[in-house]
Amino acid sequence: MTVVAVLSMKGGVGKTTVALGLASAAWDRGMRTLVIDLDPQANASMALEVTDAVFTTSDVLADARPGVAADAIVHSGWDDRIDVIPAERSLEHRTVVTGRHSALRLRTALATVPRAYDLVVIDCPPSLGELTRNALSTADLAVVVTEPSHFSLHGAREALEAVQVISDATNPGLRAKAIVVNRFDPQDREHLLNLRLLADEHGRLVYDPPLPTCSAIPASQRAVSPLHSWNSPGSRETADIMDDLLDFLLPPKREVRPMPNVSIRRYLT
Ligand SMILES: Nc1ncnc2c1ncn2[C@@H]1O[C@H](COP(=O)(O)OP(=O)(O)O)[C@@H](O)[C@H]1O
Ligand SMILES: [Mg+2]
Repeated sequence: MTVVAVLSMKGGVGKTTVALGLASAAWDRGMRTLVIDLDPQANASMALEVTDAVFTTSDVLADARPGVAADAIVHSGWDDRIDVIPAERSLEHRTVVTGRHSALRLRTALATVPRAYDLVVIDCPPSLGELTRNALSTADLAVVVTEPSHFSLHGAREALEAVQVISDATNPGLRAKAIVVNRFDPQDREHLLNLRLLADEHGRLVYDPPLPTCSAIPASQRAVSPLHSWNSPGSRETADIMDDLLDFLLPPKREVRPMPNVSIRRYLT
């Protein structure tokens, strides 16, 4: 079980796209996955066709009793392998700090819930405020999403600093695992320059390859379909990148040692 938070300071860079792309890769291989929508804009909830849920992440954070998040889990419109804790507009009211352990409310509310899943993906809002701090306090891994533009590079640095702060303060198990560069165009000199600057600053943290612009991404999201079920030119390339990214994030499979060629029974008789 791995909990991944997808974050960036900026909106529209591809957080929800990467969160849904990972969920799609997990869906494609039959993994049990929970998507937690922590953005009041609720884009992930819409793309997973959950718009009329009884409870949302706003209720979960307001309540925050251990394990209460289980009540807010619903099946997605993809199918019942992908579950969701959806968001709603009123989640905006949870962006302020409430008490000493404010950033731990999500983690407390989830309690043992993540163990029921192979993968938990948290889609963050476009800020590094209290909602994102809750995501980072819950996650094992942080994935920062950025576009290859000048200002986005600054945003990536800020996001990594936010990860470090939470890792130092409340969640020592948290690790920044990848910076995913989205909408990369290798013909664009500005993109190439910014990719170079990003790699100079963050080295191997910059995930290779970057994600290209791909029309299947908005199309599949609009149609409430996993990217991996989409059949159009370019969708396969993007789905493959998501597969590799998921492999990169998941812990390596433990080698199954062959059984020794002796039976313990002979020692028991
Ligand atoms: N690589 C891409 N190619 C084409 N469209 C993209 C790509 N990445 C994101 N989009 C589209 O851009 C918009 C913003 O992306 P989104 O993932 O919602 O950003 P964020 O969650 O950071 O606000 C969405 O409509 C999404 O479908
Ligand atoms: Mg989003």
